[in-house]
Amino acid sequence: MSIGVCYFPEHWPQERWENDFEKMASAGLEYVRMGEFSWSTLESERNEFDFDWLDDAVELAGEYDMQTVLCTPTATPPKWLVDDRPEILQKDPDGTVREFGSRRHYCFNSTAYREETKRIVTTLVDRYADIPHVVGWQTDNEFGCHRTVRCYCDDCADAFREWLEDKYDTIETLNDAWGTTFWSQRYTSFQEIDPPGPTPAEHHPSRLLEYARFSSDSVVSYNRLHAELIRDVNPDWFVTHNFMGRFPTLDAYAISEDLDLVSWDSYPTGFVQDRYQADPTRDQLRAGDPDQVGMDHDLYRGALDRPFWVMEQQPGDVNWPPFCPQPGEGAMRLWAHHATAHGADAVLYFRWRRCLEGQEQYHAGLRKQNGEPDRGYHDAMQAVAELDELGDIDHVAAPVALLFDYDNLWALSEQPHAPTSDYWSLLASFYGAVRAYGVQVDVVHPTTDLGEYDVVVAPALHLVANELADRLTEYVEDGGQLLFGPRTGVKDEYNKLRPVAQPGPLSDLVGATVDQHESLPSQIETGVSPTGTSNETYTFQTWAEWLDVDTADPLYEYCTDGIESGRAAIVEHAVGDGTVVYCGVWPDADLVDELVRPRLDRAGIAHSDRLPNAVRTNERGGYTWVTNFSSDRYRIEPAGSEPTWILGNETLEPFDVAIAEGEIVDGLAIDRV
Ligand code: GAL
Ligand code: ZN
Repeated sequence: MSIGVCYFPEHWPQERWENDFEKMASAGLEYVRMGEFSWSTLESERNEFDFDWLDDAVELAGEYDMQTVLCTPTATPPKWLVDDRPEILQKDPDGTVREFGSRRHYCFNSTAYREETKRIVTTLVDRYADIPHVVGWQTDNEFGCHRTVRCYCDDCADAFREWLEDKYDTIETLNDAWGTTFWSQRYTSFQEIDPPGPTPAEHHPSRLLEYARFSSDSVVSYNRLHAELIRDVNPDWFVTHNFMGRFPTLDAYAISEDLDLVSWDSYPTGFVQDRYQADPTRDQLRAGDPDQVGMDHDLYRGALDRPFWVMEQQPGDVNWPPFCPQPGEGAMRLWAHHATAHGADAVLYFRWRRCLEGQEQYHAGLRKQNGEPDRGYHDAMQAVAELDELGDIDHVAAPVALLFDYDNLWALSEQPHAPTSDYWSLLASFYGAVRAYGVQVDVVHPTTDLGEYDVVVAPALHLVANELADRLTEYVEDGGQLLFGPRTGVKDEYNKLRPVAQPGPLSDLVGATVDQHESLPSQIETGVSPTGTSNETYTFQTWAEWLDVDTADPLYEYCTDGIESGRAAIVEHAVGDGTVVYCGVWPDADLVDELVRPRLDRAGIAHSDRLPNAVRTNERGGYTWVTNFSSDRYRIEPAGSEPTWILGNETLEPFDVAIAEGEIVDGLAIDRV
């Protein structure tokens, strides 16, 4: 288990560097990442290269026994390049050029930019090919950050038409697959199809979905260009890319096929403000939400089913969310443990030292702007010492799979059908319910082999091809426990409604169909209760389906005094050796809990009592981590004998972590003291 740091030697006078590396090494940092925004320093004018500074920095890292990760510097094409080849710039849907002056201004489909990329990447990788402590490369930096996956320039228009022609072959096939008769949208040739620009009313959903797929594919092929250039020169290097948290427009599973190592950038107190649906609590503002961060850890671990890295870990206060509170005492250490417990093999803090210039002066580093250690530095040092003790540990093994994929995210985001509908939040409510029992979850693509999972949770399989329906049926017949959420099986893969009742090809498996659906604002009271009783009422939000029950057993029915009253809302169906539950509402926490717990029990998965929201347990490599993302104190009460504590003990302090030997989750209770 390793800790590292992201460093920008080019921001500091060279006389400082040795001091910096010496301090990194003495803190026990093993990895340093450099170079992701350095193009104009490496090449100040076309073919005027200066590598000496990077050579020196890399050499110093080696002298201090640190492993180096270098980055291709393509996230920031320099001004001379932009002026020379302005066609590389991205365009907004209305044709506005995304100008030079920040970062990520280039288009993934620009042939000019692909040529320039080849040139700079080849020069760089050749230069460092034989340096043994350069261990791998990060391609670019956060593909798509600042809403740049989708571009609307002429190169993208051409590439989109080619992409469509490749996929559909003839324009008639496309017209049929999309259903372009609607609002008179038939095309006579691929040349007529533009990227979806501004229109009076909304776009055709099939066209939007294809633009989302095409745009993501464009990044996949741009990343592949980097990966191939890197591997050509030294196949021993790992190739990674640093993804983002809850990032919607780029298919991380598809990109990962060209990577050896998946990494991502974790900023818990920022995410909880800018990509979390509820209002963050005081504690979440100090440490983030363990499940929000955890779901990303599990997604990026699941992408290649191997340990991942946190390439950028929040080091203290940051500059970009609406508010930037100081993290709780020890939070920077807590995050490193939490990441490791979820399967990270390395955590690199971003950045070494608060920067004196440019856009991120309000972003902390491990060191203050005067070079003194900051709060994060002390936390990082403690994490180094504690994680070092554990040595190399195994990959996480999870008994539960949560199905996630970008096609469904895109389709549901295009037609949310309610302002409160949010794909990630729906996913998160099911994810959180499993995690609340201390159970490990893999967040995986529906094409993953599900045979090894005891429980599969599929919160929003909106688009379902027949092949997937067959695989899910087989999974249940073979003894699997499957839980579906609402809006399942509505459409085909072209984002077109099926000519049969929902859930379409899953109807036999579910043993029920959807008669009506509705989206609900908060003024309409919601409630379901177990079928045939009215003593327990569970609320839900945003979405409700009235089910026609066929061979399934009704589990819950609508119990509020409305037109839906008495209709089935949730059903259970025994199929082969397994069971499937279809939940037609977006369940609030207590209802999803009532659905998840029986699945875990039926599958025989050992689990804890329902844990407090801010406290989570993770198992990895024969250890159990207990993490506390709150300012409260908790007592950890294992059901069996007192475990051996490797770190901490049964009293869990605010923003603290404890590690026990072995698995202690079965029957575990954790209470506030
Ligand atoms: C990341 C990015 C870094 C830096 C950081 C600030 O998204 O990769 O370059 O901007 O955010 O928190
Ligand atoms: Zn473009």
